[in-house]
Amino acid sequence: MRMCHTIAEVRAVRPGLGSLGLVPTMGFLHEGHLSLVRAAKASCSAVAVTIFVNPTQFGPSDDLARYPRDEAGDLRLLEAEGVDLVFLPSPQAIYPPGFVSRVEIGPLASVLEGAVRPGHFSGVATVVLKLFNILQPEAAWFGQKDAQQCAVIRRLVRDFDMPVRVMIGETVRDADGLALSSRNAYLSPAERDAAAVLYRALRAARLAVDRGERDGGRLRQVMRAVIAEEPAAALNYASVADPESMAERDTVEPGDLALLAVRIGRTRLLDNLRLL
Ligand code: PAF
Repeated sequence: MRMCHTIAEVRAVRPGLGSLGLVPTMGFLHEGHLSLVRAAKASCSAVAVTIFVNPTQFGPSDDLARYPRDEAGDLRLLEAEGVDLVFLPSPQAIYPPGFVSRVEIGPLASVLEGAVRPGHFSGVATVVLKLFNILQPEAAWFGQKDAQQCAVIRRLVRDFDMPVRVMIGETVRDADGLALSSRNAYLSPAERDAAAVLYRALRAARLAVDRGERDGGRLRQVMRAVIAEEPAAALNYASVADPESMAERDTVEPGDLALLAVRIGRTRLLDNLRLL
């Protein structure tokens, strides 16, 4: 497994790698990331993983300083998966002095997560554009858990005519349905139990759809009611939205998502489920 810390090092090894699958991450890897690595390995001749806690996607009240990190553990996991290249740049390598450009994604980036975290998706799109330019992957894998991020990346690739296939991996869940996330590491044991309420609420919305409910407002209410039953949970938003524009739906259409952001103690968790 090759490790690169600078763009020049990546440029030197990239020609020898052939068709490259990329899995961009912020590290503290779990099974969700590893499932993306395995999917990339199955369809490309080489796989690269980036580990970079991207400062431009964190707002002033976000958790950049306390974001969990475990570089040695991550490298062990990636070695065991047979990853070919790991790119671990410093913030200065990605944002050298004088760097000023930003990608703006438009209305999609200012609803839901974008409304709560202004500038977040601009930071995500900017770093992903840079990582695609540096590593020149044929395809890149992202997790469905961050559904709005997936929509942002699809928009980025379409709008800038980038020759990269955007691949989305299914959300990997614990036995009680909690979606795997690096941020789960912040949860105390009691909070960890309480966090299963997100999936219960999403399932309740899907069950309602299975029984014939199509009204977006009533489905949002179904999710709100389940979250309200868990004293440790504070709802941030419950949404029924189009998976590309993330616009709220009055009436559910095929492909639409139920999306939740819920605070459990100090930790803000996201999850989503396809409704129809
Ligand atoms: O999902 C993440 O881990 C990050 O947002 C990403 C895509 C690696 C960009 O920093």
